[in-house]
Amino acid sequence: MADRERQFLWGAASAAYQVEGAWQAAGKGLSNWDVYTNVYHVTEAGAGRQETGNVAINAFDRTQYLADIALMQELGINAYRFSLAWTRILPDGTGRVLQAGLDHYSRFVDDLLAAGIRPVATLFHWDMPQALEDRGGWRNRESVGWFRDYAALVRDRLADRVETFVTLNEPFINLFLIEPLVEIAKESIGNPGAITDAQWTRQAMAMHHWMLASAETVGDFRAAGFKGEVGLSLPLMPTLPERPGEGEDIAAASLADAVINRWCLDAMFNGRYPDEVVAEFARRDPAFAAVVEDFPRLAANRHDFLGVNFYAPAFVRRDAAAPLGFRWGAYNPDPAPQAFNGPVRPDYLKVLLERIRDDYGNPPVYITENGAGFGPSDEVMADGTVKDPRRADYVARHITAALEAKANGADLRGYMIWSLFDNFEWLQGYSRRFGMVHVDFDTLKRTKKQSFETYREIIARGVGPQ
Ligand code: NOJ
Repeated sequence: MADRERQFLWGAASAAYQVEGAWQAAGKGLSNWDVYTNVYHVTEAGAGRQETGNVAINAFDRTQYLADIALMQELGINAYRFSLAWTRILPDGTGRVLQAGLDHYSRFVDDLLAAGIRPVATLFHWDMPQALEDRGGWRNRESVGWFRDYAALVRDRLADRVETFVTLNEPFINLFLIEPLVEIAKESIGNPGAITDAQWTRQAMAMHHWMLASAETVGDFRAAGFKGEVGLSLPLMPTLPERPGEGEDIAAASLADAVINRWCLDAMFNGRYPDEVVAEFARRDPAFAAVVEDFPRLAANRHDFLGVNFYAPAFVRRDAAAPLGFRWGAYNPDPAPQAFNGPVRPDYLKVLLERIRDDYGNPPVYITENGAGFGPSDEVMADGTVKDPRRADYVARHITAALEAKANGADLRGYMIWSLFDNFEWLQGYSRRFGMVHVDFDTLKRTKKQSFETYREIIARGVGPQ
């Protein structure tokens, strides 16, 4: 392990619901995403295709995933980040355990290791068991215990071979962007789901439960003698006033920074939340003020590493009508080319990594996601190639920026691209491609894109002397 620890991780990232398919295989329970897509049809419908994760890119299938692992070897990555579907292990979220689900992930881990690829396992990437959603999901404080029990099952089965675990993926984006958009989509087809101020407060409480669940899981792993590392992946984005001279926007960008970035960073590394976050949500619901009583539990369980998911900076504007009093993304003054998740600004990845170095005691960092969706435009040409020069350029420039921060002392341990394969992009369904490998969603055929070769060359060059 000592050698491995020194080795820079070059990887790719994925998530169960976005790639696995097999939504009812081997006794699997339903997740909230199975229900959102099959019952409420929340995705932006695409070309008459069924926009669900029912089949996705068939990555649950062993024949398929072994072929995919062969592509990973060809690319030269030494790490693969994937998530486990809670519902394959505990179909009802708690209680009855499906050994077949644990067996599947155990075999997958063995198959990765046999290929020389280090597994990086995310325990939760947004697919909540529907049985728990029916009990209030993450808004219910019992969710902390539900998650710890599930995490313990995975740990007991995989921790002898998996050295790196990510507890949860992107709390802020899931709770404050995706889930509210799901509610809006449900409402648009006649189901109740209005986004109200009260609901925002409930999302804040859910966020608190995510932070507690993550910290307590770190403690549980340590108590069980786990010798590897446990971290949390955050969606981090430098926040900038959309109108630089405008006092209102400057204040909005500062609040956005507290809510989007510092809330979770402070929880992980300072064992508390920024004062303005507590004040903001306690103003809406006095009960939120009690979260401070849990701070000692956060402080007692410091994470081993930070997972950085970086796509773009956020340009923030004051908007009194918005639930949090600000908006980002809708207005975008940046002349840089735009990807799906914002302007292409690799310089802000460097800014971000150096800020983490300076403000949070230089913790070990993995970039657990970085990548580019440029719309449905990646097409297989008549000669069988897929040209995606913008993605190739995006990735090369972001890696350069990340390595500059590393050279400047940031404790960067690895970089994982989102994503190796085109997959199910949540509310956008299959209309947003992020892969370095094109997937024909009808035939499931894989075709390498130009960016695959770019990334292969970068990995082959390495990071230089370490
Ligand atoms: C972050 C999320 O973790 C992932 O699920 C999503 O597909 C990418 N961003 C791209 O938007």
